[in-house]
Amino acid sequence: MRISILTLFPEMFTGFLSSSIIKRAIEKKLVQFDIVNIRDFSKLNNQQVDDTPYGGGPGMVMMVEPVVEAIRSVKTEKSHIIFLTPSGKTFKESKAKEYARREHLILICGHYEGIDERILYYIDEEVSIGDYVLTGGELPSMVVADAVVRLIDGVIRKESIEEESFNEKGLDYPVFTKPPVFEGHEVPDVLISGNHKLIAAWREKSALEKTEKNRPDLLK
Ligand code: ADE
Repeated sequence: MRISILTLFPEMFTGFLSSSIIKRAIEKKLVQFDIVNIRDFSKLNNQQVDDTPYGGGPGMVMMVEPVVEAIRSVKTEKSHIIFLTPSGKTFKESKAKEYARREHLILICGHYEGIDERILYYIDEEVSIGDYVLTGGELPSMVVADAVVRLIDGVIRKESIEEESFNEKGLDYPVFTKPPVFEGHEVPDVLISGNHKLIAAWREKSALEKTEKNRPDLLK
Protein backbone atom coordinates (compact mmCIF):
# COMPACT_ATOMS: atom_id res chain seq x y z
CA MET A 1 0.00 0.00 0.00
CA ARG A 2 1.04 3.57 -0.64
CA ILE A 3 -0.08 6.56 1.48
CA SER A 4 0.54 10.08 0.19
CA ILE A 5 0.07 12.90 2.69
CA LEU A 6 -0.40 16.43 1.37
CA THR A 7 0.49 19.05 3.98
CA LEU A 8 1.92 22.50 4.62
CA PHE A 9 3.90 21.09 7.57
CA PRO A 10 5.91 18.05 6.40
CA GLU A 11 8.19 18.26 9.44
CA MET A 12 5.30 17.13 11.67
CA PHE A 13 5.55 13.61 10.20
CA THR A 14 9.20 12.91 11.06
CA GLY A 15 8.55 11.26 14.43
CA PHE A 16 5.49 9.39 13.21
CA LEU A 17 7.30 7.76 10.28
CA SER A 18 10.49 6.95 12.18
CA SER A 19 9.07 5.20 15.25
CA SER A 20 7.60 1.92 16.37
CA ILE A 21 5.23 -0.12 14.23
CA ILE A 22 4.94 2.41 11.39
CA LYS A 23 8.72 2.50 11.02
CA ARG A 24 8.85 -1.30 10.92
CA ALA A 25 6.03 -1.52 8.37
CA ILE A 26 7.96 0.86 6.10
CA GLU A 27 11.18 -1.11 6.55
CA LYS A 28 9.32 -4.34 5.69
CA LYS A 29 7.97 -2.59 2.56
CA LEU A 30 4.37 -3.27 3.62
CA VAL A 31 3.60 0.43 3.20
CA GLN A 32 5.24 3.34 1.42
CA PHE A 33 4.66 6.95 2.49
CA ASP A 34 5.21 10.13 0.51
CA ILE A 35 4.93 13.43 2.30
CA VAL A 36 4.11 16.14 -0.23
CA ASN A 37 4.55 19.83 0.61
CA ILE A 38 1.54 21.71 -0.80
CA ARG A 39 3.61 24.91 -0.75
CA ASP A 40 5.80 23.48 -3.52
CA PHE A 41 2.76 23.79 -5.83
CA SER A 42 2.09 27.49 -5.27
CA LYS A 43 2.54 29.61 -8.39
CA LEU A 44 2.46 32.87 -6.44
CA ASN A 45 5.15 35.09 -4.96
CA ASN A 46 6.61 33.88 -1.67
CA GLN A 47 4.97 30.48 -2.30
CA GLN A 48 1.68 31.85 -0.95
CA VAL A 49 -0.96 29.15 -0.39
CA ASP A 50 -3.75 30.98 1.45
CA ASP A 51 -5.84 34.12 1.14
CA THR A 52 -8.67 35.95 2.87
CA PRO A 53 -12.19 34.47 2.60
CA TYR A 54 -14.64 35.80 0.01
CA GLY A 55 -17.57 37.35 1.89
CA GLY A 56 -15.32 38.36 4.77
CA GLY A 57 -14.79 36.73 8.14
CA PRO A 58 -11.83 35.74 10.28
CA GLY A 59 -8.71 33.86 9.29
CA MET A 60 -7.23 32.65 6.06
CA VAL A 61 -8.47 30.03 3.59
CA MET A 62 -6.18 27.62 1.74
CA MET A 63 -6.39 28.20 -2.02
CA VAL A 64 -7.66 25.33 -4.13
CA GLU A 65 -5.06 25.44 -6.91
CA PRO A 66 -1.91 24.39 -5.02
CA VAL A 67 -3.87 21.58 -3.33
CA VAL A 68 -5.22 20.30 -6.66
CA GLU A 69 -1.74 20.44 -8.22
CA ALA A 70 -0.35 18.54 -5.23
CA ILE A 71 -3.07 15.89 -5.70
CA ARG A 72 -2.21 15.60 -9.41
CA SER A 73 1.46 15.06 -8.58
CA VAL A 74 0.67 11.75 -6.83
CA LYS A 75 -2.74 10.63 -8.18
CA THR A 76 -3.22 7.46 -10.24
CA GLU A 77 -6.40 5.62 -11.25
CA LYS A 78 -6.00 3.54 -8.04
CA SER A 79 -6.00 6.53 -5.67
CA HIS A 80 -8.65 7.14 -3.01
CA ILE A 81 -8.59 10.80 -1.99
CA ILE A 82 -9.53 11.82 1.56
CA PHE A 83 -9.76 15.37 2.90
CA LEU A 84 -9.35 15.56 6.70
CA THR A 85 -11.76 18.15 8.08
CA PRO A 86 -13.89 18.54 11.21
CA SER A 87 -16.87 18.83 8.81
CA GLY A 88 -16.34 15.29 7.46
CA LYS A 89 -17.98 11.98 8.29
CA THR A 90 -16.64 10.46 11.51
CA PHE A 91 -13.75 8.02 11.07
CA LYS A 92 -14.44 4.53 12.44
CA GLU A 93 -12.61 1.19 12.60
CA SER A 94 -14.89 -0.03 9.78
CA LYS A 95 -13.51 2.74 7.54
CA ALA A 96 -9.95 1.82 8.53
CA LYS A 97 -10.65 -1.74 7.36
CA GLU A 98 -12.04 -0.49 4.07
CA TYR A 99 -9.01 1.77 3.51
CA ALA A 100 -6.57 -1.06 4.41
CA ARG A 101 -7.78 -2.93 1.29
CA ARG A 102 -6.96 -0.02 -1.03
CA GLU A 103 -3.74 0.38 -3.00
CA HIS A 104 -3.25 4.11 -2.63
CA LEU A 105 -4.61 6.65 -0.16
CA ILE A 106 -4.12 10.37 -0.58
CA LEU A 107 -4.68 12.24 2.71
CA ILE A 108 -5.11 16.00 2.45
CA CYS A 109 -4.39 18.09 5.53
CA GLY A 110 -6.22 21.41 5.73
CA HIS A 111 -5.00 24.30 7.85
CA TYR A 112 -6.17 27.76 8.93
CA GLU A 113 -9.93 28.17 8.35
CA GLY A 114 -9.98 25.25 5.90
CA ILE A 115 -9.64 24.75 2.15
CA ASP A 116 -11.66 26.52 -0.56
CA GLU A 117 -14.86 24.41 -0.81
CA ARG A 118 -14.18 23.75 -4.53
CA ILE A 119 -11.71 21.10 -3.31
CA LEU A 120 -14.81 18.85 -3.14
CA TYR A 121 -14.66 18.44 -6.95
CA TYR A 122 -11.25 16.77 -6.60
CA ILE A 123 -11.65 14.40 -3.64
CA ASP A 124 -13.59 11.20 -2.82
CA GLU A 125 -14.62 11.93 0.76
CA GLU A 126 -14.37 14.27 3.73
CA VAL A 127 -13.36 12.59 6.98
CA SER A 128 -13.28 13.86 10.58
CA ILE A 129 -11.59 12.02 13.45
CA GLY A 130 -14.05 13.34 16.03
CA ASP A 131 -16.16 16.20 17.27
CA TYR A 132 -13.43 18.66 18.16
CA VAL A 133 -11.42 21.16 16.14
CA LEU A 134 -7.66 20.77 15.79
CA THR A 135 -5.26 23.33 14.36
CA GLY A 136 -4.88 21.29 11.17
CA GLY A 137 -5.38 17.97 9.44
CA GLU A 138 -1.87 16.67 10.19
CA LEU A 139 -2.69 14.83 13.42
CA PRO A 140 -5.95 13.49 11.92
CA SER A 141 -4.03 12.18 8.88
CA MET A 142 -1.61 10.39 11.22
CA VAL A 143 -4.56 8.96 13.14
CA VAL A 144 -6.09 7.59 9.94
CA ALA A 145 -2.76 6.32 8.57
CA ASP A 146 -1.90 4.62 11.87
CA ALA A 147 -5.29 2.91 12.13
CA VAL A 148 -4.96 1.69 8.54
CA VAL A 149 -1.32 0.56 8.54
CA ARG A 150 -1.74 -1.68 11.60
CA LEU A 151 -4.48 -3.55 9.68
CA ILE A 152 -2.28 -4.32 6.67
CA ASP A 153 -1.39 -8.03 6.51
CA GLY A 154 1.97 -8.67 8.15
CA VAL A 155 2.21 -5.44 10.16
CA ILE A 156 1.01 -6.86 13.48
CA ARG A 157 -0.10 -10.32 14.61
CA LYS A 158 -3.55 -11.29 13.31
CA GLU A 159 -4.70 -12.41 16.80
CA SER A 160 -4.09 -8.90 18.15
CA ILE A 161 -6.51 -7.49 15.62
CA GLU A 162 -9.13 -10.21 16.02
CA GLU A 163 -9.42 -9.79 19.80
CA GLU A 164 -9.45 -6.03 20.14
CA SER A 165 -11.99 -3.30 20.73
CA PHE A 166 -14.56 -2.53 18.03
CA ASN A 167 -14.37 -6.06 16.64
CA GLU A 168 -17.46 -8.20 17.24
CA LYS A 169 -19.23 -5.86 19.59
CA GLY A 170 -18.03 -3.78 22.46
CA LEU A 171 -14.64 -2.92 23.88
CA ASP A 172 -11.59 -5.06 24.53
CA TYR A 173 -11.10 -6.89 27.87
CA PRO A 174 -8.76 -5.36 30.50
CA VAL A 175 -5.15 -6.57 30.47
CA PHE A 176 -2.53 -6.91 33.22
CA THR A 177 1.19 -7.69 33.42
CA LYS A 178 3.87 -8.00 36.13
CA PRO A 179 4.09 -7.29 39.03
CA PRO A 180 1.19 -9.30 40.54
CA VAL A 181 0.67 -6.59 43.20
CA PHE A 182 1.32 -2.86 42.66
CA GLU A 183 0.79 -0.49 45.62
CA GLY A 184 -1.75 -2.92 47.03
CA HIS A 185 -3.65 -3.34 43.74
CA GLU A 186 -3.80 -7.01 42.76
CA VAL A 187 -4.09 -8.73 39.41
CA PRO A 188 -7.38 -10.73 39.34
CA ASP A 189 -6.63 -14.25 40.66
CA VAL A 190 -8.30 -15.94 37.72
CA LEU A 191 -5.65 -14.59 35.31
CA ILE A 192 -2.94 -16.35 37.32
CA SER A 193 -4.98 -19.58 37.69
CA GLY A 194 -3.87 -21.12 34.41
CA ASN A 195 -7.50 -22.18 33.77
CA HIS A 196 -8.09 -21.02 30.20
CA LYS A 197 -11.83 -21.62 30.28
CA LEU A 198 -12.25 -19.47 33.38
CA ILE A 199 -9.92 -16.82 31.93
CA ALA A 200 -11.97 -16.63 28.72
CA ALA A 201 -15.22 -16.31 30.71
CA TRP A 202 -13.72 -13.59 32.95
CA ARG A 203 -12.50 -11.65 29.91
CA GLU A 204 -15.87 -11.80 28.23
CA LYS A 205 -17.65 -10.59 31.36
CA SER A 206 -15.11 -7.82 32.04
CA ALA A 207 -15.25 -6.58 28.45
CA LEU A 208 -19.03 -6.34 28.69
CA GLU A 209 -18.84 -4.48 32.02
CA LYS A 210 -16.30 -2.03 30.59
CA THR A 211 -18.45 -1.43 27.54
CA GLU A 212 -21.54 -0.83 29.70
CA LYS A 213 -19.56 1.64 31.82
CA ASN A 214 -17.63 3.55 29.13
CA ARG A 215 -19.50 3.06 25.85
CA PRO A 216 -23.09 1.92 26.40
CA ASP A 217 -23.87 3.29 22.91
CA LEU A 218 -21.93 0.36 21.39
CA LEU A 219 -24.34 -2.17 22.92
CA LYS A 220 -27.45 -0.67 21.34
N1 ADE B 1 -8.92 19.25 11.13
C1 ADE B 1 -9.15 19.95 12.25
N2 ADE B 1 -9.87 19.25 13.13
C2 ADE B 1 -10.12 18.03 12.54
C3 ADE B 1 -10.83 16.88 12.94
N3 ADE B 1 -11.44 16.78 14.11
N4 ADE B 1 -10.87 15.84 12.08
C4 ADE B 1 -10.25 15.92 10.87
N5 ADE B 1 -9.59 16.99 10.43
C5 ADE B 1 -9.51 18.05 11.26
